[in-house]
Amino acid sequence: MAKSKKSAKAKSKAPAKKPVRKVVKLAAKSTSKNTIKSAGKAASKSAKSAKSAKPAKSAKKANGNGAYPKPVAKPFGEAGKALEGVRILDFTHVQSGPTCTQLLAWFGADVIKVERPGVGDITRGQLVDVKGADSLYFTMLNHNKRSITIDSKHPQGKRVLDELIKKCDVLVENFAPGALDRMGLTWDYIHKVNPRMIVASVKGFGPGPYEDCKVYENVAQCTGGSASTTGFRDGLPLVTGAQIGDSGTGLHLALGIVTALFQRNRTGRGQRVLCAMQDGVLNLCRVKLRDQQRLKAGPLTEYSQYGEGIPFGDATPRAGNDSGGGQPGRILKCKGWEDDPNAYIYFITQAPVWQAICDVIGEPGWKTDPDFATPKARLPRLNQIFERIEEWTKTKTKFEAMDILNQYDIPCGPILSMKELAEDESLRKTGTVVEVDHPTRGKYLTVGNPIKLSDSITEVKRSPLLGEHTDEILTDVLGFKAKDVAEIKNSGALSAPEKEEKAA
Ligand code: COA
Repeated sequence: MAKSKKSAKAKSKAPAKKPVRKVVKLAAKSTSKNTIKSAGKAASKSAKSAKSAKPAKSAKKANGNGAYPKPVAKPFGEAGKALEGVRILDFTHVQSGPTCTQLLAWFGADVIKVERPGVGDITRGQLVDVKGADSLYFTMLNHNKRSITIDSKHPQGKRVLDELIKKCDVLVENFAPGALDRMGLTWDYIHKVNPRMIVASVKGFGPGPYEDCKVYENVAQCTGGSASTTGFRDGLPLVTGAQIGDSGTGLHLALGIVTALFQRNRTGRGQRVLCAMQDGVLNLCRVKLRDQQRLKAGPLTEYSQYGEGIPFGDATPRAGNDSGGGQPGRILKCKGWEDDPNAYIYFITQAPVWQAICDVIGEPGWKTDPDFATPKARLPRLNQIFERIEEWTKTKTKFEAMDILNQYDIPCGPILSMKELAEDESLRKTGTVVEVDHPTRGKYLTVGNPIKLSDSITEVKRSPLLGEHTDEILTDVLGFKAKDVAEIKNSGALSAPEKEEKAA
């Protein structure tokens, strides 16, 4: 991010300046190798510091609130992965389920993706950008997994699945309601074959009137309260770009699975984990249900419509770009907005830094003016206030504005485009943006593991080709002898049905 030349001017005016923060410049090249290396470096650095700092006597005896093993002596990042030893039967497809199992794979679980012979996960062939190669839709959601093709409705396919159920800890699926049962894989059946198995599902809705419905991302956004509260008051309900229905529910499910694994340590038995997409979205819209209840006590004063004198209805309204937490904020134009659709900054008028804001934008009189001096007085005047702040932001690029505002701890954020994020050097360094090589599509960018564990470092490995690991899973994981492998293969349970020859 560029440093402002004009920041000196603002500095001389405003009080309580903080030392200038180091701002990371955008646009640099890096590879997944670099990412892994730097993550490794960070790990061994923290390992060294952990080694050099001798624990106090009392710390040596500390054991949390349970009987934990002695802390391993290996350096951080070299004691294996967090979920090493956990094996997942991954029956997921499209986005929600694969998001969950990809996370588990990044944490070290052995994720075996079961795919329909010949076709695989439908996303392999959706939104294709490189002819003949798996799509980015698929590759970006299925890193670090192995792939086996099985026709789950074929008797020999059932035989293989039964073995997988015995050898795995968790079955994860996001089929349409009833599809797993129709394969004969009911909870009762699975629990009988392997009482330790955790069966984790994403469905569109929980039990109730819509439980049988098929659901995709935007349906969940609409039925979970996101769409009715997103957008501008006088416009249509809007869906967001963030995949809160699919990826959001996948995240919820991953937590459910890890929690169930933890409980299994005590009980020895598996359980069912269900995440409904509607529930996941509503959970993420929690603050909007809060506002729904606040309506009884009067207008929502931090919403722009309050200052505009527009009455509230009986449901939480759409609030445009207002911020929700009682700290009024807006998206404001920055220098270049006429040509650049992302030349904007989010600006929050947080109460503790109001004085600094007044100085930075050149309105020192607002610090003591009773119409502006207190948060309550400002609420009905938010449009006037943000118009004045925008006069100032329009004279700066979004990065210049960020640099200046950060010096005074004024919360703000430039609107970053996907292009800018893809080129952001700091995100490459942390492994949040990773370049991966793939045998049929070449190099591509992906989002790495956003959850960083200091003792379980994520290495992002490319997604599997369809059925790439069928043989090794049959023999190494399931222990089938060559004769059995041949029998299963010859039955057609692992291969696509041959296309009927066209009549001459
Ligand atoms: N071998 C044989 N059959 C297989 C198979 C395999 N390896 N894998 C899947 N199938 C079959 C299923 O058994 C099902 O058959 P059936 O309905 O005849 O019993 C069929 O493939 C289709 O599965 P389904 O899940 O219904 O896929 P769909 O493409 O029709 O629907 C969704 C897709 C996403 C709408 C649906 O799966 C769903 O609602 N999932 C739950 C919510 C969810 O996760 N949505 C978000 C997705 S990102």
